[in-house]
Parts: sequence; structure tokens; C-alpha cells
Amino acid sequence: MGKKILVTGGTGYIGSHTVVELINAGYEPIIIDDLSNSSLSSLDGIETITGVRPEFHQFNLQDPELLEAFYASHQDIAVVIHFAAFKAVGESISKPLDYYQNNVGSLMNLIKVAGPTLKLVFSSSCTVYGEPDLLPVTEEAPFKKAESPYGNTKQICEEILEFSSKAAELRVISLRYFNPVGAHPSSLLGELPVGAPNNLVPYITQTAIGIRKELIVFGADYDTPDGSCIRDFIHVIDLARAHVIACKRLLTAENLSKNEVFNLGTGKGFSVLDVIRTFQEVNGVTVNYKIGARRPGDVVNIYGDASKAKSVLNWTAELGLEEMLKSSWHWEQYLSKNKQK
Ligand code: WQD
Repeated sequence: MGKKILVTGGTGYIGSHTVVELINAGYEPIIIDDLSNSSLSSLDGIETITGVRPEFHQFNLQDPELLEAFYASHQDIAVVIHFAAFKAVGESISKPLDYYQNNVGSLMNLIKVAGPTLKLVFSSSCTVYGEPDLLPVTEEAPFKKAESPYGNTKQICEEILEFSSKAAELRVISLRYFNPVGAHPSSLLGELPVGAPNNLVPYITQTAIGIRKELIVFGADYDTPDGSCIRDFIHVIDLARAHVIACKRLLTAENLSKNEVFNLGTGKGFSVLDVIRTFQEVNGVTVNYKIGARRPGDVVNIYGDASKAKSVLNWTAELGLEEMLKSSWHWEQYLSKNKQK
């Protein structure tokens, strides 16, 4: 196996798909995850898909002693891809301190323990933009007031990384995801929300398969063409590929500025109602939904300009909304057959 890559949050949704792509690219991923929002079944999926069961350590990064013990026996980590964080916008409104403690505290421990020569790919988010003034939103757009504690933790983490990269040998690539959806084409990996999903697409698939009685559309009276919010949905496989490219760039690129930021989106915006309609059309199923009240913290309309990732990383999203929604449905059907809930 090739260079060792630490993947924190590696049994999670985007983490597990990234671990598969890392193995396919010849790297040796090592996972740390506390399993607070994922399950060991991800390791089974990774092993079935790749034939490799990655080394796995179960603990939370808020515990510096456990992280120090890990690093004491893993001196040869080449790059860290840091996914481990809480990520539900809606939930963060009701649990702000949990989000600050976990998302910011974990990153600070990682920087301290990994040391000044850390090479880090950071899982950031389009939520750092708040409600952008200009669309599609570019990396140069200013951080606006975060609409949620989740978005604020990503803003704080990016600022910690910017100043830390100036003070030490630290090299960082932050990837700002838009809305990750979809599942591995094998249907052996996908989103495994613990409890009722916060995110739109898993709630749609669970409603379509009968686990949830009804989907509530959180508001259809916004200033958008059909009144529902608009998002830039990006396939998790496209996201995973971008992390492998970022990892390689940290390992090989010269004259790399010490702190780079890239949008990972498709550049297209689809509304909540567009997604429901497309899901029904491509899968031939009906989703029982009704229009409900707006959800506090929601941005109305955001989609990204990903031309910088194209020109610098030579990365562009290849999978469209239909494939995202087909693979999500196939994954839900797989779960139902295998009762992994
Ligand atoms: C999308 C839209 C809801 C559920 C996500 C991630 C976050 C970040 C950005 C990566 C909103 C509506 C949802 C439901 C609904 N990504 N909705 N009914 O809030 O855009 O944030 O992308 O870091 O981590 O969470 O995603 O899927 O929760 O909401 O109407 O039952 O769907 O109001 O307009 P969001 P989401």
C-alpha cells in the first residue's frame, strides 16, 4: 500500500466514499471515527468494494490524550483528511455548544497534536457564505453572518487554519462542499443518518420506502421560481474524487500557497420541489409530502462557481442530479433489504 492518509470521520458518509477512492488510488487510509453519526457497516462496505479493510480506531478527537497516543504509534501519516464534525444545519440551531465544542475543539487538537508540518485537507462547507449577494458564489465571496452555528464553526475553523498556516509549516486545502447527496454505484455505501434524517434527500428516500410517513417541505413561500429553497447538489463520488486530488496536490505540488480554498459544487441550483419531482420521475415512485413552515437557519438560494477547482485541481463534477437521486434510492432499497437501520 502507498502513503498513509489519516481520515478522521472516515466511516461517515463522505469519509467512507473518500476512503474507497483513496484505496483505488493506491493510498493506505487509516480511519479515526467515534461512530456518533456512522456505523461499522461502512467498513464492511469499503472492504467489499475494494477488498481492503482499512485500519480503524474508535475515539473522539476532543480527547487530546487519545489523539496523542494515536500519533505516538503512527509517525508516518503523510496527509490528514479531516471530516470528523457534526454537520446538521437545523440541529446546530438547537445545540450550538455541542457544535462549537466538537467541530472547533477537534480541529484545534488535531493541529496541536499533528504538529507544525501537518498537511491537511479540511472538510469545509458552502455554509461559510451565509446568504450570498452574488450567484454563483465564488471563493472570493466574503463570509457573511453565518445562518447557523454549524456554518459559524466552519468559518471559525477556516480562520484558525489560515492563521495557523501562516505561523507554521502547516499546509491546508479547504474544500467547501455544497449539498452532498447520492451513494456508491454498488449500493454498498451511502448516507446512514442516525435517527430521523436532517437532510432533504435521505428524508425523501425514507419517505418513499415507507420508513417516514410524510416529507415536510420547509417553506414554499421564498422569493424563488417555485417558492422553495435552492441548493447546489453534488454527488458524493465527485466529492470523494476531489479529496484524492487535494491529497495528491499536498504531497506533490511545488510553490503551493500554504492555504488554498476550493468550492466543490456543480454550478447548478435546483429547488427542493425540483428534487422531489426529479426523484419521483427517475425512480418511478411517489413521495408523500406537504408544504410546511420555514426552517430557522435556512439559506434561501445558493449554488457555487467551481471554476477554480477546474482550473487549479483539474476537477469538475461529472455526475448529475438524476444519478444522485437514482443511487440514493438504490441505496435506500439495499438498506431496507438488509435492515441496517
Ligand atoms: C436542503 C433544503 C431545507 C429536509 C447541507 C448540509 C451541510 C452543508 C450544506 C456540507 C433546505 C430543505 C430539508 C426536509 C426540507 N453541506 N428540507 N425538508 O441545510 O442545505 O445543509 O448542505 O457541509 O452540512 O447539512 O441541507 O438537506 O438539510 O436542506 O424541505 O425534511 O431542503 O429547508 O432548503 P442544508 P438540507
